[in-house]
Amino acid sequence: MAATVTTASGATWQEVAADRQKHRDATIAAIAPPLPEITDTPLNTIPLAKKYLTAEEIKITESYVEDLVVQLANGAISSTIVIKAFLRRAALAQKATNCITELLPQRALDRAAFLDKYLADHKKPIGPLHGIPISVKEHVGMKGLDLNAGFVAWVGTVAEEDAHILQILWRAGAVFYARTTQPQSLMHLETSSNLYGVTTNPFNSTLTSGGSSGGEGALLGFRGSCLGIGTDIGGSIRSPAANNGVYGMKPTSGRLPMGGMSATMLGAEHIVPAVGPLSTSLKGCKLFIKTLIDNKPWSKEPSLLPFPWKSEDFFQGRKLKVAVLWDDGVVKPHPPVTRALKQVVEKLKKSGNVDVVEWKPFQHDIAWEIIASLYFCDGGGEEKAATDASSEPLRPLTRHIIHDNPHMEHHTIASMWTATKRRDKYRADYNAVWNETATSVGPNGEFEGTVDVILSPVGPSAAPKIDTAKWWGYTSQWNLLDYPALIFPVDKVDVEKDGEKVKYEPRNEKDRYNWDLWEKFGAEGYKDAPISLQFVGRRYEDEKVIQALEIVKKEVALPFVEYI
Ligand SMILES: *[C@@H]1O[C@H](CO)[C@@H](O)[C@H](O)[C@H]1NC(C)=O
Ligand SMILES: *[C@@H]1O[C@H](CO)[C@@H](O)[C@H](O)[C@H]1NC(C)=O
Repeated sequence: MAATVTTASGATWQEVAADRQKHRDATIAAIAPPLPEITDTPLNTIPLAKKYLTAEEIKITESYVEDLVVQLANGAISSTIVIKAFLRRAALAQKATNCITELLPQRALDRAAFLDKYLADHKKPIGPLHGIPISVKEHVGMKGLDLNAGFVAWVGTVAEEDAHILQILWRAGAVFYARTTQPQSLMHLETSSNLYGVTTNPFNSTLTSGGSSGGEGALLGFRGSCLGIGTDIGGSIRSPAANNGVYGMKPTSGRLPMGGMSATMLGAEHIVPAVGPLSTSLKGCKLFIKTLIDNKPWSKEPSLLPFPWKSEDFFQGRKLKVAVLWDDGVVKPHPPVTRALKQVVEKLKKSGNVDVVEWKPFQHDIAWEIIASLYFCDGGGEEKAATDASSEPLRPLTRHIIHDNPHMEHHTIASMWTATKRRDKYRADYNAVWNETATSVGPNGEFEGTVDVILSPVGPSAAPKIDTAKWWGYTSQWNLLDYPALIFPVDKVDVEKDGEKVKYEPRNEKDRYNWDLWEKFGAEGYKDAPISLQFVGRRYEDEKVIQALEIVKKEVALPFVEYI
């Protein structure tokens, strides 16, 4: 239903926000059976599920996509039961983390009933995602529903049709049941807006769920979803996946359908966003991407690349070669991140089946300068117009990325060409650096091939404290290069293991800001936060990156801890 309380119809931004929250609360209250008022929310909210949900609901919502797909297709479990369970856990996730913009109980239950009947009538599933619940970041348009992209003034805009990605997933059998929060402007690595406030991390409410797909991140971390849709132009799928201990993939741009989303900077071609999955399993991510590509999205969206899913074995008996980026040379990661990297590297080396080498960061400071000068090419004009239209104040991280960004430029066409040439030169240089990793070694001088994937931190800390996620470099680096990047959970912050004082003299202002946070809060302040890492491949090697993680997961039991 379209919002009627809007700034266009004369309401203040506070009234619009209050009305959107009222609408959200009404959709939560419509969940059957209803959840009680929750007043005793602990900092780590995960135990709430066991307290308020049934054993069956817990079992269903903690199942992986690959298991649900089988049970739903053979009728062992009905789509209706699955959706009811996820609706209840999503409602609880809202109470725990503030991650929902609206639940869609009526639509979802109607759809589930249709799918259950379809299976009974046809004795086969409707498609590869028959009955799978998928949660969706708000700015992905859903027919007939509001579409605000985090701006108060945009409330009242209604999507005329489902986004292209939703159309394909729908045909494959998906059930959309939850829409999730995003930050003002979509350009934060956290999730904070004037419409809904702050989305917090389910493992510690003093920490951020990440962003901009932070509603997705918190919902998946809480297990109110097993598969969700995020978007990423600087880390927006990967930071929330990492902060909440789930898998997430930013594919190379131009592979998955982007049509029908709302955002500023649409039409920009020099830095292109990507849509992708967050999931509690790697197989969930893979099934999502493969299903979309198998449906040839390029036939409807000509800006996409007409590459079928590559199902070949990229290694064919040879060893996977991983290069480790310990530190990007700009902002040093906090000790827990380095510990997780060390442990993965040690285990890989011990396995003997994976080659591990070092990756020297190549001018990641310059990379940030370039990408930061290519966001907001109109000098932030579109964002300014969108916020001015409602007089909503700027959230701290909107201010950080637009106003406190020394590299931002109000471009002329000529200056944009110059910046884009600089981007291309950097891409070529990085490619050359990657090629130089090819070695000709061994007794007979045999060729060893280049590095396959880079193993990198996802950010300079585990889930940051609210309003402190300021360094994007560990994720935006791969947007600038347009490399596919896959997040996987490894460990969590542990006071015993991470508590030791480390002496370090920061090398620049950004580094100092990040290190001071560690000095101030220490392991206790980040306690229980998931620690995740990132695999990065070369452009269009999405399938290879996934296979690389499959190989590593065979060698090393990941994650090292259970989160739930
Ligand atoms: C760089 O490496 C790629 C992938 O191995 C290869 O296809 C390409 O020919 C190499 N380019 C140069 C200039 O060496
Ligand atoms: C969460 O953060 C607070 C504040 O830094 C800290 O005291 C607490 O130990 C952390 N973890 C949990 C589970 O409470």
